[in-house]
Amino acid sequence: MVRKGSAAGSAGAKIAMGSLGTACVHAGEEKHGKAGSLTTDIAQTAVFALPNVARLRDIVTGKSSEYYYTRNANPTTAAAEEKISVLEGGHGCVVTSSGTSALLAAVLAVCEQGDEIVSMLDVYGGTIKLFEVVLSKLGIKTTFVPYTEMSRLESFCSKKTKLIFLETPTNPTLRCVDLAAAARVGHKFGATVVADNTFATPILQRPLELGCDVVLHSATKYLGGHSDLTAGAVVSRDEALVAKMRDMSVTTGGVLDPGASYLLLRGLKTLEVRVEKAAKNARCIAQYLRGHKKIARVIYPGFEENEGHEIAKKQMSDFGMMVSVEMKGGGKAAERFINSLRLWYLATSLGGVESTVSYPVLASHFNCSKERLKVLDVSPATVRLSVGIESCGDLIGDVEQALGQ
Ligand SMILES: Cc1ncc(COP(=O)(O)O)c(C=O)c1O
Repeated sequence: MVRKGSAAGSAGAKIAMGSLGTACVHAGEEKHGKAGSLTTDIAQTAVFALPNVARLRDIVTGKSSEYYYTRNANPTTAAAEEKISVLEGGHGCVVTSSGTSALLAAVLAVCEQGDEIVSMLDVYGGTIKLFEVVLSKLGIKTTFVPYTEMSRLESFCSKKTKLIFLETPTNPTLRCVDLAAAARVGHKFGATVVADNTFATPILQRPLELGCDVVLHSATKYLGGHSDLTAGAVVSRDEALVAKMRDMSVTTGGVLDPGASYLLLRGLKTLEVRVEKAAKNARCIAQYLRGHKKIARVIYPGFEENEGHEIAKKQMSDFGMMVSVEMKGGGKAAERFINSLRLWYLATSLGGVESTVSYPVLASHFNCSKERLKVLDVSPATVRLSVGIESCGDLIGDVEQALGQ
């Protein structure tokens, strides 16, 4: 049982998988309002009034942890942080203005000029750009490891490696990486191991329990869950590291507005039920597509023929809410299929209650060279489906009519 308003980290590491639904609803929630409202109030303010100079002195010298400026801390954001920390089994969380700013906070907390990052190549395109274009300007070099080379991860690391970056399942080919094995390699080199858990969510996969040091989320996706906010989060069991990530987030300014924090908090309450329904729908849709004559390949971690199926079985409690397909007939067939869908929206995000379809070569992988696309196993025939929580029969019916066009 999670107690309301428990201090960050106190309950986190103890939450058992079976209690996740309770944690979704109750963790972090506190009655902030004078009227004792059941839900957490939105502290829609940029700044807090202080009673006297002595209080200000206490805050800036660290004697008091009271709120004084929202960029530094805000009670609504703190409630969302507590809930995510508990769900991931962490001892603290920093919520940020996007998944990208969460990544920046984590990297800046760990790396300095001259340090190196070893990252999977099969990660979100924006992550690659941040590593290649931005961090290289700061003298932080990244070595990318293709999925097929991940069993040799150690050979890409050196004593300069300060951070290992992992994402599993990957986008859009849903490849799964052994988080425990990668964490062991990273720790041999004294590196901080960061896992992007956006596609799995803490309901299906808990990287901190598998030995990773930091869990990262684009909370824009499943954590928010309603396609109505942009946010990110980083969680760790190392409180000193959480403090450093917070300092980097506050200093670089990538914090979340209290109104968006409230939406995140509200979305999180239904995370478990949304994930369970969407994962069930995804399984049905993958099975339907598997036998279809217009589909060359169904990519779904739940299928034995899928790369990483055994890993997914070991470290995930279900196979996720995403399904990708390769169409027979290449790019033209893919476009026709997408354009013919009526219920599924063409949208370049994922993780909302609505089912959406994305076309990776014109979205997440638009800037990839042909060579890189080949290594990533993405082609114009690849279509990515983010399965929502609608009635499965309606989703399959729409896919059926679209494939019939
Ligand atoms: C797996 C993954 N990580 C991180 C990000 C970046 O998140 P945001 O768009 O919230 O900055 C995305 C965005 O699509 C993503 O798919």
